[in-house]
Amino acid sequence: MQEKTINEYILSVSDIVVKYKRPLKAFVRSFGCQLNFSDGEKIKGMLIKMGYTMAEDEQSADVVIFNTCAVRENAEDRVFGNLGFLKHYKEENPNMIIGLCGCMAALEHVTDKLKKSYKFVDIVFSPSAIDKLPKLLYEKLSGSKYAFDTNEYNLSAEGLYQERDSSFKASVPIMFGCNNFCTYCIVPYVRGRERSRKPENIIQEVEKLVADGYKEIMLLGQNVNSYGKDLEEKTDFPDLLRKINAVEGDFVIRFMSSHPKDAGRKLIDTIIECEKVGKHLHLPVQSGSDEILEKMNRRYTVEKYMETIDYARSFIPDFSFTTDIIVGFPNESAEDFEKTLELIKRVKYDNIYSFIYSKRSGTKAAEIDDKISDEEKGERMTKLLAVQREISTESYRRFIGRTMRVLVDGKSKKNGLLNGKSDEFVIVEFEGDESLIGSFVNVKITEAKNWAVTGVIE
Ligand code: SAH
Ligand code: SF4
Ligand code: F3S
Repeated sequence: MQEKTINEYILSVSDIVVKYKRPLKAFVRSFGCQLNFSDGEKIKGMLIKMGYTMAEDEQSADVVIFNTCAVRENAEDRVFGNLGFLKHYKEENPNMIIGLCGCMAALEHVTDKLKKSYKFVDIVFSPSAIDKLPKLLYEKLSGSKYAFDTNEYNLSAEGLYQERDSSFKASVPIMFGCNNFCTYCIVPYVRGRERSRKPENIIQEVEKLVADGYKEIMLLGQNVNSYGKDLEEKTDFPDLLRKINAVEGDFVIRFMSSHPKDAGRKLIDTIIECEKVGKHLHLPVQSGSDEILEKMNRRYTVEKYMETIDYARSFIPDFSFTTDIIVGFPNESAEDFEKTLELIKRVKYDNIYSFIYSKRSGTKAAEIDDKISDEEKGERMTKLLAVQREISTESYRRFIGRTMRVLVDGKSKKNGLLNGKSDEFVIVEFEGDESLIGSFVNVKITEAKNWAVTGVIE
C-alpha cells in the first residue's frame, strides 16, 4: 500500500478530532535556539491544521509536545524534570498524549531512557522528522502504544504549515544542519549535514512576510556563512543578503549565526552596503586562546578573527559585535582563560552569551581527561561576567546623544517602560504608548546601563 501524504494524515487526524464533543487542545513548549523555536512554530501550524486549538499551558492540553535542546547537559536535565510534571498531569487526564521531539530525540541514550523509564511518553520524532507528526499522532489516536520515528531524513521543511509566535518578528531558516564538528558540540550529530534552502523559496517567504506587515526578518542557520555550498546554483550568503535587501518594504534584516572561519570581507562589505541589514554581527569566538581554538576545531586564530572585526570597524567605528564564549573547555589553563578576558576587552562586545563547558557524549572533547574543577570553572564564569558588565556599560556609552531606530518589542512589567531592539541589536528602553509595539520608532539615547540603553522618543 502506498504511504499516505502528510495532508492525508492531517485529514485523518482532524476526522478523529471533530468526533470529540469538545474542542481538543494542544500545547508546544520549545527549548534551545531560534531554529528550534522555528520548528516549534511549524509543529503548532500542523496541530492547528489537524483541528487542535492552542492551550495556555500543559495542564489543560490534550496533546503536549516538548521540542527539546541537547546542546548542554542542563538543557537535557530540565526536559526530564519537566517530563516528571507531565506524568502527574497524565495521571489526572489519562487520555493526554505526550510527545517529545527536537534535538534530544535524535540521541540514542535519550530514546532508550524514554522507552525504559518514561513510558508515558507516547510520540517521539527527531528534528528532521517534524513532518511525520501527523502520521505519528494518527497512529497513536488509532490505538498504537508508542509512535516513534527517530530516523534521519533530509528534511528541508518547505511548504509546512506554520503558526508564527509574533505578528511582527519572523524567523526564516535558510539552512539546516551543520558540517563543522566543533569538538565540544552535539549539533552536527543531532541535526545532520548542511542543507540549504533554495534562494527563490527564501525570497518568496520573505516577500510574503513583509507584505503581511512583518518588520524583522531573522535569517537562521547554524552557520549562515556556509549557505549555498550544497546547492547546484553558484550562490553564497552575501548574495542572498543582497536579494533579501532588495525586497521592497520597511523592515530590518538580521541573521544568526556566523562562523568566524567563513566571515570574510565580502560579508562585511555586504552588511555595510545593504541598508536594511542591521549593523551588527553575532560572531561566536568561543575562546581567546589559539591553543583552545585549535582543540575546539574552530579553524581560525585570534588574529584572523580580529581581522574581520577591524575591517568592519574601519568603515563603521561603532559596528556592534556580540559573541558566544565557552568557559572551561577541558584543560583550559588559567592563561588560556586570561586570553579570553584580553580578547573581550580588545573587541569591546556589546553583549556576550557565555556558557560553562558541558560534556556531550559522542563528541571528541568528551574523550579528554579534564583536570579543571567545576569550582574553578564557576569562578572563571563569575569573573568573565563581571568584566563584560563593565565593557557593556562603557561600550553602550557611545550611543548617548544619538538617535537609534528601534523596533518596539513590548512593555516591561517591572518599570512600565517600552523596550525594543535597535538596528544594532541593542536593547533600548523608553517611555511610550503600548500601541507602538510592533512598529519602528526613533529614540534619542540619554543613558547607558550594562545590559541596555535608555532614551526618549523623538
Ligand atoms: N552554530 C552556532 C552555535 C550553536 S550552539 C555557532 O557555531 O555559532 C550555541 C552556543 O552554545 C555555541 O556558540 C557555544 O558557545 C555553546 N555550546 C555549544 N556546545 C556547548 C557545550 N558542549 N558546552 C557549553 N557550551 C556549548
Ligand atoms: Fe556546533 Fe560548531 Fe556547528 Fe556551531 S558551528 S553548531 S558550535 S559544530
Ligand atoms: Fe539546542 Fe538543537 Fe538548537 S541542540 S541549540 S535546539 S540545534
